[in-house]
Amino acid sequence: MKPSVLVTKRIFPEAIAFLKEHCEVDYEETDDGLPNDQLLDRLRGKQAILAQLTNKFTPEVIDSLDGLKIIANVAVGFDNIDVPAATRKGILVSNTPDVLTDTTADFAFALLLAAARRVVEGHQYLHAGLWRKWSIDLLVGHDVHHRTLGIFGMGRIGQAVARRARGFSMRILYYDPVRAPEAISRELELELVSKDQLLREADFVSLHVPLSEGTRKLIGEPELMLMKKSAILVNTSRGPVADEAAVAKALDEGWIAGAGLDVFENEPKVHPGLLKLTNVVLTPHIASASIDTRREMSMLAARNAVAALEGRRPPTLLNPQLWDSLSSSKGA
Ligand code: GLV
Repeated sequence: MKPSVLVTKRIFPEAIAFLKEHCEVDYEETDDGLPNDQLLDRLRGKQAILAQLTNKFTPEVIDSLDGLKIIANVAVGFDNIDVPAATRKGILVSNTPDVLTDTTADFAFALLLAAARRVVEGHQYLHAGLWRKWSIDLLVGHDVHHRTLGIFGMGRIGQAVARRARGFSMRILYYDPVRAPEAISRELELELVSKDQLLREADFVSLHVPLSEGTRKLIGEPELMLMKKSAILVNTSRGPVADEAAVAKALDEGWIAGAGLDVFENEPKVHPGLLKLTNVVLTPHIASASIDTRREMSMLAARNAVAALEGRRPPTLLNPQLWDSLSSSKGA
């Protein structure tokens, strides 16, 4: 009998076709996806799941699972899954790194440029029929080139953003408990600084950290107060990394000049204070949403699931130590 996989929400059809070549597929082909309270029921008898960020795998949910071999998340972020609990339960967990790095970095830069150069305000001005004449200070914004970019989190996406910033001749500061590899630091001329120095000196602050208890509300009122009045905040990581109410207040009261936000604390809800402002560009969690990248994310998650079901090492595991111990106990 073929193994069974649950797909909790619509993904690219190529991934479903691939899964069907290898397993039975129970597919919730909707954009709302399977409600979390139906997850356990629908997982009965399944050996794999392709999950999305809206599926919450708490320790309680994980403890109730039976016979599941892998949770293959269709995202690079995995704050929706308690990986240590899954490891204890003997369940592999995978994500979709690398395939979305450049696409996400492109989008962070798009938000940075849009907020700095007031692209959306210009678009709305024109659509509203307000453009009557050229004038010297119409929608003047902030230069990006030769300015200072501060990056929180110098992992794959942080580095890809830094690479783009080099093209704009920017000075690049970063803050990360883990130092960037020497060769990358040299190539991109990165300066590792303290959190406070980054906040004080950066014209643009871009967030590229995973969400964890250590990064929750990394940017709150005290941090926003340290930033320059002319600074712009960009968040393409996870909403709870910035305190959304504090960001709305800072933008409204002019502590900072602008923001570009793709992620929110309670998606799809957006803090009402942000929706009233013109100095913020808001997008619906689409930083990795190019056609090719979202297809590749779907495929990578499917490849991870099929590998686990066929007893091969999934390509992008988050708990490789579990794989190692499972394979050594099989070999023993
Ligand atoms: C999207 O937010 C992802 O984590 O891939």
